[in-house]
Amino acid sequence: MRLSVVGTGYLGATHAACMADLGHEVIGLDSDPTKVAALAEGRVPFWEPGLDAVLQRGLESGRLRFTTKPADVAGATVHFLCVGTPQQSNSPEADLTQVNAAIEALLPVLQTDDLVVGKSTVPVGTAADIEGRVTPTGARVAWNPEFLREGNAVEDTLRPDRLVFGVRDSRDDAILREVYAPLLEAGTPLLVTDFATAELVKVSANAFLATKISFINAMAEVCEATGGDIVTLSAALGMDPRIGPQFLRAGLGFGGGCLPKDIRAFMARARELGVDEALMFLRDIDDINVRRRQHTVDLAVASMGGTAAGRTVAVWGAAFKPNSDDVRDSPALHVAQALHNAGARVVVHDPRAVPHARTLFPQLDYTEGAADAVQGADVLLLLTEWKDYIDIDPAVIRPLMSTPTVIDARNALDVDRWRSAGWTYRALGRPTA
Ligand code: UDX
Repeated sequence: MRLSVVGTGYLGATHAACMADLGHEVIGLDSDPTKVAALAEGRVPFWEPGLDAVLQRGLESGRLRFTTKPADVAGATVHFLCVGTPQQSNSPEADLTQVNAAIEALLPVLQTDDLVVGKSTVPVGTAADIEGRVTPTGARVAWNPEFLREGNAVEDTLRPDRLVFGVRDSRDDAILREVYAPLLEAGTPLLVTDFATAELVKVSANAFLATKISFINAMAEVCEATGGDIVTLSAALGMDPRIGPQFLRAGLGFGGGCLPKDIRAFMARARELGVDEALMFLRDIDDINVRRRQHTVDLAVASMGGTAAGRTVAVWGAAFKPNSDDVRDSPALHVAQALHNAGARVVVHDPRAVPHARTLFPQLDYTEGAADAVQGADVLLLLTEWKDYIDIDPAVIRPLMSTPTVIDARNALDVDRWRSAGWTYRALGRPTA
């Protein structure tokens, strides 16, 4: 099939390369010439494990191309919308500028019976709006939400847990079944539904995941007040198959380009729909999440004798999660910046995210090596649980510190190993650990 993919960020670049891998002829369209040039040369402009190999395979096959010119996507019959829907700068609502620009770019090239397939996370009702604009061309609309996680994007695209098709017309169900034929043959469950349900599956999945994380972090607050241990509590909860162990890692909370903005946009949309009470709890989910960041700052300041002024803080981790170079709404950088504002010299290390972090937070210091960051530090903060940090021998770096105190804000380090190496170990939700 001839497909176009509009928007070549984390979602679109992965989708385009993976669709070419399934045997389709794919053209990726993006208004950013730097991104398009990189992809066309086989370079992924962000860190995503395994994507470079799929991209290169697609380019070599001749089935995958990239362009900045909307006219070049004429001839494709299925057009995937994969543009970003960030939070508006001055409100909690989703900013649909890129979605609108993508539709404007597509309108002149759409032909009768083409299918525009939304994958971006949007406020419920967007698909119907787009349909109203696209219908005069004779093209139709479907909604096919994407659930990929950064750091696992290729696997999540080629072997998803489920496929959801929001369609108005049974012809579009058939078109999407053809697009995803190899995945369906491999047994991927498929749900065919209406536009609203398809749009809601995505935002409600992210709201549920955010709720699970904030639930365990709320329990961490209670552990801090009672002497309980959140790591054991979480393990015990996760053994109940009705609860399950995933997304119950207590710590610094969620960040990134999806969960924080998606719950805010969902609340804003609920308000417009007159069902704000139904989602009022997401305000608490957001608040619990943000409180963990301040709590980590407070722990760090307390460990330095009550002041950050003139102290040196080593920070391990800048990405919003491991295996990603994405620093959008990164809890780690939020904490690092707050300690900088409080007067500390903050030295940050991250295996992949330093270039992005430096652009957004030029006032922080950055180092090449994890050990360089701890040189002369009064406290070490583990803020993103990269495996590189978990593997480091605490005995080797202890002499480099001014005071060997570590705050494990992701509950990722081996307490006994760090203690026996002579460290003062503190963690979130583990007052007695
Ligand atoms: C998320 C959804 O998982 C994915 O399905 C959707 O398509 C996009 O949003 P992503 O943002 O890539 O994916 O990251 P995810 O792995 O969900 O992690 C989100 C945040 O939650 C990270 O900051 C992570 O550190 C944090 N997290 C995750 C926890 O604090 N505890 C956990 O137990 C799990």
